[in-house]
Amino acid sequence: CSPSAPACSHRGTAQIQLLLRVCKEAKKSAYCPYSRFPVGAALLTGDGKIFSGCNVENACYPLGVCAERTAIQKAVSEGYVNFRAMAIASNTEEDFIVPCGACRQVMREFGRDWDIYMTKPDGTYIVKTLQELLPLSFGPEDLKKF
Ligand code: THU
Repeated sequence: CSPSAPACSHRGTAQIQLLLRVCKEAKKSAYCPYSRFPVGAALLTGDGKIFSGCNVENACYPLGVCAERTAIQKAVSEGYVNFRAMAIASNTEEDFIVPCGACRQVMREFGRDWDIYMTKPDGTYIVKTLQELLPLSFGPEDLKKF
């Protein structure tokens, strides 16, 4: 199958295969006593480094953070802002796990032209660019127009 196929278990590059493994592993660290919905993320930087993340919930519910944003904040705080891909994993068997709207906006801060791999526990995934996930988006360039 091709990377643009709607759903596949195609063996991508070794780096993407690793990314897919790391997001599944990161899910094991999820701190989600309230939702009991563990999510793992793995973020691949332009120079090949991988940052993992999991959701981190809080007794004050709105303070909970998604796995995707945990990974991005870990990367940015270590000096990495150039991203090539992110993979996301959950335990939902029926659907591919998709990033929430807030995470899409945070991802978009770092470009529109990178890939998000949305997986199922059986190893299949769909892949979309940020541009596809968040069309007509507002980003850093828009602040430079006046
Ligand atoms: N969650 C994520 O971490 N990423 C997603 O893509 C969807 C939702 C988390 C937030 C919350 O801790 C739990 O899953 C249930 O919404």
